[in-house]
Order: sequence, then structure tokens, then C-alpha cells
Amino acid sequence: MIPIANPIIEDEEIQEVLKVLKSGFIAQGPKVAEFEEKFANYIGTEYAVAVSSGTTALHLALLAAGVGEGDEVITTPFSFAATGNSVLYTGAKPVFADIDPLTYNIDPEKIENALTSTTKAILPVHLYGQPADMDPISKIATENDLIVIEDAAQAHGAIYKNKMIGSIGNMGCFSFYPTKNMTTSEGGIVTTNNLAMADKIRILRAHGEKERYKHSILGYNFRMTDISAAIGIAQLKKLDKFNKKRIENAAYLTEHINEIEGIKAPYVMDGIRHVFHQYTIRVENGSRDEWIKFINENGVGTGIHYPIPIYEQELYQNLGFNDKCPETEKAGNEVISVPVHPSLNVEDLEKIVQVLEDDSLKII
Ligand SMILES: Cc1ncc(COP(=O)(O)O)c(C=O)c1O
Repeated sequence: MIPIANPIIEDEEIQEVLKVLKSGFIAQGPKVAEFEEKFANYIGTEYAVAVSSGTTALHLALLAAGVGEGDEVITTPFSFAATGNSVLYTGAKPVFADIDPLTYNIDPEKIENALTSTTKAILPVHLYGQPADMDPISKIATENDLIVIEDAAQAHGAIYKNKMIGSIGNMGCFSFYPTKNMTTSEGGIVTTNNLAMADKIRILRAHGEKERYKHSILGYNFRMTDISAAIGIAQLKKLDKFNKKRIENAAYLTEHINEIEGIKAPYVMDGIRHVFHQYTIRVENGSRDEWIKFINENGVGTGIHYPIPIYEQELYQNLGFNDKCPETEKAGNEVISVPVHPSLNVEDLEKIVQVLEDDSLKII
């Protein structure tokens, strides 16, 4: 089976982890500081604060923005649950705005419709590695005095109109989960140019300690370890190479998939760099489950990102959410992600196309 994701861990990562294990600094130490400096440099922000996951990055970024009970945060329902959950952790309410059906990213017009007097922040997601349309989002934020936190969990190295993703909003939140464009095993980071926000996150990730054993606010243990940071430093060096391969793989798939009846290849906006965390095709007329069965039976892994809008998850239903986002619901029934990761070889790519071609003959 060609897997839907395949983290590339090489000798360099293994050697760097061994060095950390032998150094004695196996929790947060000098490697985390080095990783933060290198990641901030890569994104082009003044600061980067490493944490234990993409989820804790979002949680602490929201807290650093002052989001809490009584506030609303406008976000997309077409994302991993962590996007909505991070808002719930703060006591604020996520308000779900529907997506643009072409890019699958939050539709700025729908953000405008969702604004209320208690809106505090906008949390766009750069889904599948394609930047959300940040110009209109930034404009809405400026006009309404809102914070923008980018959920860049899937978009390391993506670019929107010459600006690195993670450097456009007040803060950017990345995940380094193993399936992502680069990994630290579990891990996350917040990028920002705002010193006060960076400092707040540093304090929140370590039990509210400004000084050892002096706790000024209620914080958490959301630290990254030097073991993870050592993996991250090695992976960051290869990120551009990994992304180049993802983009080439996507170009090959799109060239061939465009000729297959019944399948829509991903749409890529002008003026951006899409880094293809996922390569997500779309099939219509209720045939999605049949396609997936056939594709899997023929040795190609798939994923559905995401089958259930966040507001329809049981947790959210129990909390009384009753949003309706028709484009999200439609996309959730029609999307299929197929492998695009950098360890695919030519034969893998040919096989993916061939299976989709065969499947289209069977279904249409
Ligand atoms: C869009 C999005 N947001 C947030 C997260 C949470 O990241 P993590 O799994 O590192 O907590 C993920 C990934 O899992 C994600 O895809």
C-alpha cells in the first residue's frame, strides 16, 4: 500500500537525537532555543516560541491575544478539530464561517457576515498547504480591531503574495506532527513579531513562571523537549527540498488527473505558493465511498480531510452549536486525499494515476 503520509527520518536526525540524549539536556534546553531562532529566521519573524504541539501553539496564541470567556473567534469548520477546540479551551466561542468551495479555505465574505460586537479574533487555516486569502482577512481585522492568528499547521514554507505564511497575522501557529511537511515527532511553534505576545507564550508554556518557582499567572507544561528540537533543526534544513518534491508530485498528479472524467484536481490560487501538505481531489454525485474502496483495494492509501464539519462533531452538538455551512458540508462528502509526500517515487505516482484512471472507467 502506498501510504498517505510517510515521515522521512534520516541518519542526521538520528545522530542529532543521540547527541542530545548523551548531553544530559533532554527536556527544554539549548536545542529548543536554537530551533526557535532558526525557525523564526526561516519564517521571517522576530520571534518563535516552541511548544509541545500545534494544538498547544493555538491555545497559547489565543491566550496571549487575550481571548477568553465572552469573546468570539471566527474560524473555519473545514479543519482538524484542534482549530475549534483551541478556542473552546480559552472559554471563548468559535464562530464558524463557511469556506470558498474552490480553495476550501475560509471565505472572507462569510467572515464579514459573522462579525458581532464580541468578535475578538479571526483564526484562518491554510488548509492542505494553500494560504487562506489573507489580504481581505487582514483588512477586516484592521477595520474591526481584531487579532489574526494563522493556523499554519499544514503550511510550513507556504507563501501568500511574497509573504511567508506565519508572518502575516499577529501570530502564526505550526504543528510538527509526523505527517506534516516537517516534523519534530509531536511539537508546535508560534511565530510573531510582537515581543509582548512572545513573552506571554514563553511564560504560559512553563506554568506561568517568570522566574524559577515564581508563578504569576496560571500556565501549563506545554514545553518542547531538546530531543524534538534536534529533530526539528535537521528537518528545517530539508523543508524546502521536501516542499519542492511535494509541489512537483502535485504538478504530475494534476497534469494527469485533469484528463480523468469525474475527478476535480486541486485548485491553486494565483500569487501563492501551495506546499501540498495534502493533495485533495474532489468527486461528485455521491460516489466518494466507492472511489475510496477501489483506490484502497488497488494499493493506494487515502484520507478524508475532513468528513465532519467541526460544529457537527458530537462535542459541539452537545454544546449546542447549530451552525450550517453548506459548502463545508458538500466538500466533506466529496473530497479524497491521495499520497503526495516527498518519498513517493515515479512508479508510485504512475500507480496513483493509473488507479484513478481505472476507477473512473469502473464508476462512470
Ligand atoms: C489545521 C490543523 N490545526 C491544528 C492541528 C493540531 O496540531 P497537533 O496535532 O500538532 O496538535 C492540526 C494537525 O494535527 C491541523 O491539521
